[in-house]
Amino acid sequence: MDVKHYYNPNGEEILDEKIFGGTPSGFVDFNRSRYRWDSNIYDLMNANTWFPSEVNTITEKKNFNLLTPNEQSIYKMTFAQLSFNDSAQEEYLSDFRQLANNRLVKSVISLQIMQEVNHSKSYAVLLDACGNSDEVFNLYKYDDALNRKNQQISEQFAQHIDGSSVDKMLLSAMASVNLEGIYFLLGFGYIYLLGDKVPGARDMIKFIARDELNTHLPLFTNIYKTIRKENKILTSTIDTSYQMIEEAVNIELDYGKYLLNQFPIMGVTPELMEDTVCNYANDRLKKIGLDPIFKESKTTNMQKLVTKHLEMNDVKSNFFESNVSNYAKSSLDLNDF
Ligand SMILES: [Fe+2]
Ligand SMILES: [Fe+2]
Repeated sequence: MDVKHYYNPNGEEILDEKIFGGTPSGFVDFNRSRYRWDSNIYDLMNANTWFPSEVNTITEKKNFNLLTPNEQSIYKMTFAQLSFNDSAQEEYLSDFRQLANNRLVKSVISLQIMQEVNHSKSYAVLLDACGNSDEVFNLYKYDDALNRKNQQISEQFAQHIDGSSVDKMLLSAMASVNLEGIYFLLGFGYIYLLGDKVPGARDMIKFIARDELNTHLPLFTNIYKTIRKENKILTSTIDTSYQMIEEAVNIELDYGKYLLNQFPIMGVTPELMEDTVCNYANDRLKKIGLDPIFKESKTTNMQKLVTKHLEMNDVKSNFFESNVSNYAKSSLDLNDF
């Protein structure tokens, strides 16, 4: 590796460091942020730090055994898929980080990587308490639909991440917007629907969802918007962004409808899934400055459940340490670019 990669006294000024392209001097200076959102998101991520051991999973096995067979299958298939998302995201972030230029944005990604590892650890803790860890983590070997969704997500990640152009960097960021903003959402919804029947899983997902939706998604929507603003982006690249989110909606709905067909549970219909995923996709498009292209429906009950659990002040104090029950309000401006 070139020495300048680590230290380059003749490199560009910190405030001139763009997300893509350039030669940083090698310093991380939180007092000189080119974009305010990067240090705001970093502070919020830090304030929201939690650990899987803080979630009460003592009764998880007993609770799981009381679920109906279909509910048990939904639980297992959901965690089998969500755990893949976090494993893949950790690896993707390391690759994206290496291609990025602005040192402060890279630092925020470093913290996000730590949080994705924390999510992986939390699935292991939960499933160990539930007594089905090996079974769930191996489901991809036996279930074609699960295997297909994982494969398709991997392909979106791998497709553009070679650093060869700013347009490819933008599309790589789009893959992460899809992961944080689309691929987790039906899974979160299922666990919230099971809700009080499996409080360990529900509370674990509550913390994971807060990380994904309150800080990781804003990080990558800001990265997308910033790359676009700082560079001349081809119209065809924007068209590809729309195609990628259309693919993401199809991937999420294919798996969702498969689960619903195989393991119908109370409260979920194909229409509910479709409306939920399309509403989320429109929201993600608006967040990155593109036009909503999907059929817009009124806010679904599943969306309301997800939103309800994003609120910061409803954590049961007997379950968590004070730092977690005081979970920071996302009052900081995370979209100030
Ligand atoms: Fe995660
Ligand atoms: Fe994430």
